[in-house]
Amino acid sequence: MWDKLAEQYGTPCYIYKKDIIEQKWNAFAEVLKPISHQICYAVKANSNLAILNVLAKLGSGFDIVSGGELARVLKAGGDPQKIVFSGVGKQDAEILAALEANIGCFNIESQFELGQINQLAKSANKIAPIALRINPDIPIKSHRYIATGLKENKFGIPIQEAIELYLYAKTLPNLKIIGIACHLGSQIQDAEPYEIALKKLLHIIDELAKKDIHITQCDIGGGYSVHYQSEQGFNITELGKVVLPEFIHRKLRLLIEPGRAIVAESGVLLTKVISTKIQSDKNFVIVDAAMNDLIRPALYEAYHEIVPCNPRHGVEKECDVVGPVCETGDFLGHHRKLCVEAGDLLQILNAGAYGFTMSSNYNSRPRCAEVMVVGDKSFLIRARETLEQLWENETCLPE
Ligand code: LLP
Repeated sequence: MWDKLAEQYGTPCYIYKKDIIEQKWNAFAEVLKPISHQICYAVKANSNLAILNVLAKLGSGFDIVSGGELARVLKAGGDPQKIVFSGVGKQDAEILAALEANIGCFNIESQFELGQINQLAKSANKIAPIALRINPDIPIKSHRYIATGLKENKFGIPIQEAIELYLYAKTLPNLKIIGIACHLGSQIQDAEPYEIALKKLLHIIDELAKKDIHITQCDIGGGYSVHYQSEQGFNITELGKVVLPEFIHRKLRLLIEPGRAIVAESGVLLTKVISTKIQSDKNFVIVDAAMNDLIRPALYEAYHEIVPCNPRHGVEKECDVVGPVCETGDFLGHHRKLCVEAGDLLQILNAGAYGFTMSSNYNSRPRCAEVMVVGDKSFLIRARETLEQLWENETCLPE
């Protein structure tokens, strides 16, 4: 199968399996079935239209953080009412586009944004549905770049200011308070941080009820881990044990915003070995994928399993798998045990999330193709960029 895909679409190339995306989404839906809920897939993890369309057909909502993500979701057939708009720096044009589309909720991150959205809603003659994104100050065990729920991070509203800001929001005529939200970070491996956060949010909800502010949706964010190396994949049943007892007796809808947990394991980055070399007693396997295609190893020292598509019988050597980009940080894996030769195909596993979406044209490398496998068929869902596309928006100065 891999040889055929490589031949048909070239390498490097992202390959996603549709059935895995559906399985992962359905697993969340199954656990949350007893309560009123909405899964809002975090578009930033993988925003290919075909993937968004598969999720829209399952009934998914979407967590967006930009006007670009909004446009993609609408283009892919997503229901605007199931969109939540997160992000710490929403710009006027993005807010206006979201108001125009009648999205489900703006997750607000500051007092400034309350005024900004109220003003824009007024100018558009709309009432904006809002939630306040609370920063619950809960430490999580993951890379420091992807923890978001600590008080020193830029995200959310300090928890002690929440009530006061809700009272202020209530005075703004073009806002409708509907919810409360938080997001703790990424690669969270157990349900405990969610349990702690939920308790804090429910406490605020109860306090607000006393002040005649009635919250009808509670968004506990994304961050559910997947298994890359030693980390555990998140156990959704454990999440169920935390949320079901709390929501079953309340008139409150649960929202979750999983990104990685839906798409990471559906995808591999298929790459070909260009050459191998030994330098200073070190073995290098040089492949045609690079940090511009998958930046996670370079940026977060993230681990992705690398496996040959057609394993050879021979002695495995410890090697670094690196790309052609001119940076020492351009690696896909260090200290891997492999037996490979030029021309061999490798799969870089669990690359469906934050792979293509974080890719770039660095070193003037066209971004690679994306393919979706459905049963025994495959479909090109994004063509490899051409060289002309690299400079299509550029112009030389006039003579
Ligand atoms: N909701 C909000 C408000 C978020 O900021 C994020 C991710 C998510 C949901 C989805 O988180 P997930 O379920 O995918 O963990 N580029 C990094 C991850 C950055 C995540 C940023 N926010 C990586 O490659 O690990």
